[in-house]
Amino acid sequence: MATLSHGDVSKPLSGMEMSDRENLILEGGNSILISEGNIIKIRPQQELLEEFAPDMEDGKSNKVELLDVKGKAIIPGLVDCHTHLLWSGDRSNEIRLRQNGLSYQDISEQGGGISKTVEATRNASRKELESIGRSNLSQSSNYGTTTIEAKSGYGLSVESEIKILQATNSLGGNNQNILPTWLGAHDFPDDKKVSEYMDELIHEQLPLVAEKGLAKWIDVFCEPGWFNLEQTETLVKSAKKFGLKSRLHVDEFVDSGGLSLAAELKSCSADHVGFSNDDSRDKANKSGTMQVFLPGTPYVLGKDLGNGIVDCIENNWNFSLATDFNPNCQSLSLPFVSSLATHRIGIDPLAALVACTRNPASTLNSEMEKCVGSIYEGGAADFNILNSKHVDYWCQTPGVSPIFKTYFSGSIVKS
Ligand code: NIG
Ligand code: FE
Repeated sequence: MATLSHGDVSKPLSGMEMSDRENLILEGGNSILISEGNIIKIRPQQELLEEFAPDMEDGKSNKVELLDVKGKAIIPGLVDCHTHLLWSGDRSNEIRLRQNGLSYQDISEQGGGISKTVEATRNASRKELESIGRSNLSQSSNYGTTTIEAKSGYGLSVESEIKILQATNSLGGNNQNILPTWLGAHDFPDDKKVSEYMDELIHEQLPLVAEKGLAKWIDVFCEPGWFNLEQTETLVKSAKKFGLKSRLHVDEFVDSGGLSLAAELKSCSADHVGFSNDDSRDKANKSGTMQVFLPGTPYVLGKDLGNGIVDCIENNWNFSLATDFNPNCQSLSLPFVSSLATHRIGIDPLAALVACTRNPASTLNSEMEKCVGSIYEGGAADFNILNSKHVDYWCQTPGVSPIFKTYFSGSIVKS
């Protein structure tokens, strides 16, 4: 059982701590006692059975419900801290454009990319988006995610951004914790001037989102060609006045100083960070800004996965992994993302697990009743039972879910 609960469970782990099997994995022979959605005890199986199921016969008891996992490995519920969960449309034609030499930027300039998804998403009703959301969530749940962050950002107008966030909020609950982020600053809409849209973001979208309590954070796509450093800073500071903290898209294609700015603004997380330099990484770590790598995105864009993750491990800088599910990168599988990290980058599967559970949870816990991302007495009963007795199996089945059963809030998740 990979409890990952060594030390203060609200804090991330870094460097060698992330692959410290002795402290993070509990040997076999233990059982978990659950009541009312929480983990009450983690103790040797015999001890729990004697105390709570003294009447047990043929694996059954009248006092408690028993599940024998037959030695299968258990890991925490996975935590996906960066997704674009709700959008409509289809951009699968873009792969051929990329193969013919067009860059992400070129495709965007030709009317593809974000603006194409915006058009389709604006045309979708809230009900349609909810149904798309439910289907996406069931994918994510199938891969063991029990807590998921979900960004808006394919509306780019007051009405559509609010529609996406309302749809996101209405999905909450049975199988997963869903935490919405407002990403009105994902791109500039075709029908407005840059200055007009900045005004709309600050004076219309943001106050409405905050007043209606529709999002936990604000996000900005800070990248040359989209939102520059100055616009990003203005937006993050405006959001702070409404009590909203930030998670940012930075340094995806070039090092534009985005991670450094995120650190100065004390953003909860700075995501992509593929091209960030070591000074910014160090600065981010010192300011408590989590670096979130999204290797699925360079993978689908045909790009190098980079050295950032290895640099973080070597320098004891906190980092996380997430799916970045979006119209280009259509995977909600953290096991797949971690297959990239382990099979292609050489990261220890246990370190990858920490990067998909406890570490991203540390950026979301402020919005949760209890710290998620690890298995501990008193914590929420969110965990996965694998189809293997080896913890490392969790990210060794690319394209197939490694999950036997998922518990969320003490109940088995029904697909
Ligand atoms: O994080 N890069 C910005 N946003 C998304 C992709 C958006 C899109 O291409 O639709 C991302 O990769
Ligand atoms: Fe993203």
